[in-house]
Amino acid sequence: MTLSRRWRTLPAENDWAKTRARLLAAGADLVDLADSNPTRHDLGSPETAEIWARAACQAGRYDPDPRGPVAAREALAARFGGGPDDYWLTASTSEAYAWLGALLADPGDAFAIPAPGYPLIEPLARFSALRTEAYPLHYLHPYGWLLDPERLDAAVARPGVRALVAVNPGNPTGAYVDSADRDRLVESCRRWGLALVADEVFNPFAVDRDEGVRLAGEPQVLSFALDGLSKLLCAPGLKTAWIRLSGPAAETAPARAALDQIADSFLPVSAAAGLALPGLLGLADSVVAATRARLRSNLACLRAGLGADRVRVRRCDGGWTALADLPRTRPDPALDLLAAQRVAVHPGWFYDLPDPGCVAISLLPAPAVMAEGCARLRAWSDETAAGV
Ligand SMILES: Cc1ncc(COP(=O)(O)O)c(C=O)c1O
Repeated sequence: MTLSRRWRTLPAENDWAKTRARLLAAGADLVDLADSNPTRHDLGSPETAEIWARAACQAGRYDPDPRGPVAAREALAARFGGGPDDYWLTASTSEAYAWLGALLADPGDAFAIPAPGYPLIEPLARFSALRTEAYPLHYLHPYGWLLDPERLDAAVARPGVRALVAVNPGNPTGAYVDSADRDRLVESCRRWGLALVADEVFNPFAVDRDEGVRLAGEPQVLSFALDGLSKLLCAPGLKTAWIRLSGPAAETAPARAALDQIADSFLPVSAAAGLALPGLLGLADSVVAATRARLRSNLACLRAGLGADRVRVRRCDGGWTALADLPRTRPDPALDLLAAQRVAVHPGWFYDLPDPGCVAISLLPAPAVMAEGCARLRAWSDETAAGV
């Protein structure tokens, strides 16, 4: 038996993950500020389960529509715009990436993706026999993240690039695509004949600003916006996401027909998901408001508790993650913090952050957990500064 070439090098567990697992196994009093699973932080609505249970009771009759039930797609169109035929339900945004790989690219082609960025896009592309070409984003404190037009042009012009992925706001950068960036992305797509893939799962979660531009529904180029309940309702277990198609009719018509084929082959999302979606969308505003309040208060706690003299918390326009620059007195600050103070934060290299002192901190934990994590982080930075 031979596995595909994708698996010539099998992934190895890194030192940070090993240390975290060892501490957990030993029952250490770990403060986990790396956990972005909202269901572990008392977020989301209890009504989610009630709506889902009612839908599950009605789901006995299998009446498949490859796109997902029309009532669900009408509810999406009513909330987000477009028409019901512009939406396809999928089991996750990750699955949606796989569909778009099959739709837009041939084996060996590439998607242009932001760096730093969401680490799953590269393996998802690889599983579809695709490559990724990174276009870098740069951080300028306190202004935020900047798109470098020249590096973007260089990335999208590379051979085989078929789609331009924008994560809006980015994970872990939290940077929204502003209107000047949007014009640039659209122009790049038009110039190089690329599709625009807009991953907007974190879009409603504005933190250091009031709201961000949406790319969903972009009319000028062939566009696919990805979104889902895993973030919108803090409910990753519901496995309900969607793709919204938009663009010039001459390009959307063949894409629509091909997406229908792909949807027909993957078979529709669960009947309960389709039936529940209209009711579940009615919970989104209150879940988003409560989650945003948590994100904002945790970010304020980090800024107040860490002391700007030692730890710089970066601008965080949106999303569930804050980035902080720790003192670089140790080669791997996240590993050192974990070993010395039993505080888990993600090392920046998980996300291709170029700065070795930069770590990613989840803004989801309960306030008491965040306060304890801040206190330990502060103690660690005081000790490292004192050379302990
Ligand atoms: C930017 C981004 N897109 C997509 C996803 C995956 O979402 P889903 O649960 O719908 O697959 C994540 C998960 O964290 C994410 O950070």
